Amino acid sequence: MNIFLTGATGFVGGELLVSLSKLNEVNKIYCFIRSSSEEEVILRLEKIFNLRNDFFDRKKIIPVLGDLFDENLSASLIENKTIKDVDVIIHSAANTSFSGIYDDMVVKANMGGLEKILLWAKTLPHLSTFLYIGTATICGKDIKNRIVFEDESPNLQANHLVKYTYTKMHGELLLHKHLPKDKILVARPSIIMGDSRKVTPRSPVILWAVATINQLRLIPANEHALLDIIPVDYATEAIVKLLFAKRNHSVYHISSGAAAATTAFKVTKNLEAYFTELPPFHFVQKPILNQMKHWTRNRLQPDSELYNYPVYLNYWEKAFTDSGSLRILFAGLDPYLEFMELGQVFDNTRLLNDVAIEQSPAADIYIKNCMTFLERIDVLEGALDF
Ligand SMILES: NC(=O)c1ccc[n+]([C@@H]2O[C@H](COP(=O)([O-])OP(=O)(O)OC[C@H]3O[C@@H](n4cnc5c(N)ncnc54)[C@H](OP(=O)(O)O)[C@@H]3O)[C@@H](O)[C@H]2O)c1
Repeated sequence: MNIFLTGATGFVGGELLVSLSKLNEVNKIYCFIRSSSEEEVILRLEKIFNLRNDFFDRKKIIPVLGDLFDENLSASLIENKTIKDVDVIIHSAANTSFSGIYDDMVVKANMGGLEKILLWAKTLPHLSTFLYIGTATICGKDIKNRIVFEDESPNLQANHLVKYTYTKMHGELLLHKHLPKDKILVARPSIIMGDSRKVTPRSPVILWAVATINQLRLIPANEHALLDIIPVDYATEAIVKLLFAKRNHSVYHISSGAAAATTAFKVTKNLEAYFTELPPFHFVQKPILNQMKHWTRNRLQPDSELYNYPVYLNYWEKAFTDSGSLRILFAGLDPYLEFMELGQVFDNTRLLNDVAIEQSPAADIYIKNCMTFLERIDVLEGALDF
């Protein structure tokens, strides 16, 4: 198998690259990476393997410099004779930002960039599978507090919390515009958070939200809404096994399903047990987030409900001496809190039936292996980054 992998420098792609590089069935992995030079791209690849002392097989892993934003990308991929023997494409690259300020880039990368890859893919003589890493959250924000099935998406009527999920939904439609159904495989992970092993994950993104919640302690969210969260090692194992499995479907949730879904209540109980010096967690209604934002600007109405929680206001005053920092954290956390309220659980029956994989570990259990990493997250820097 000769694989063309995009997004290898990312959270999921890095794990996929390392896992795939260890398989005898995989002959070559062309890694599509943006970079200013050949030297830099090798350094980026070395970093992926050095993180956990994995073997970087230079004969097997072949960098292909490129950028999804490049207007001539399809043409330059078509002209590149060395990648003509690709039979599997794994498209993991995406702009995953939830922040509205990056909406244009999100559209350009996740729809425009994907279409350029597809225009090249359809010219490949031996293409057997285009594995698109989608997201289960393309189902939109109107589905609440229930199990979601693969066949419910893509749904053009779905309303989206963020542009990212909208573009990932349209990505699936683009696959069908350019490729026959038998070449399309869609893996739709739910929320990928940290790693269930005691290792440093390649990205802090969702753990950043947990670290921020951990520092705030007064949380405007429903603590009992179900959360479908999986660790990146499970996501990778499932995606790789799916690629080699005898499949009965072309779309699969990679998720916890109902059996291993968690809640903010369960996760925060474990945080409380570890970070004992902080005030206990308390959950309030989501709309109180607006009062929190007003409070940081000294504009909170005197009769506001938030004043019922003086312990937390005093704690914030001491812990966040600069109210601007607190404002940045609230703004960064806002879309994550919206997702937390949805109570969506993604059915994983297809995955468990067709792939030899166990149920994922529950996030409230494996979070215990993430505590030292959580402690090191600079929440303010993270809020500015994502
Ligand atoms: N993480 C989750 O919770 C989650 C959940 C469900 C689905 N997914 C899906 O899983 C996939 C991987 O997500 P992730 O968490 O690994 O994301 P990530 O850590 O943000 O990685 C994104 C990857 O895409 C690359 N990329 C972005 N823009 C590019 C461009 N213009 N040209 C070339 N490469 C570009 C990045 O390269 P640079 O290093 O150069 O920036 C990086 O390798 C995505 O398709 C995402 O939609 C993720």
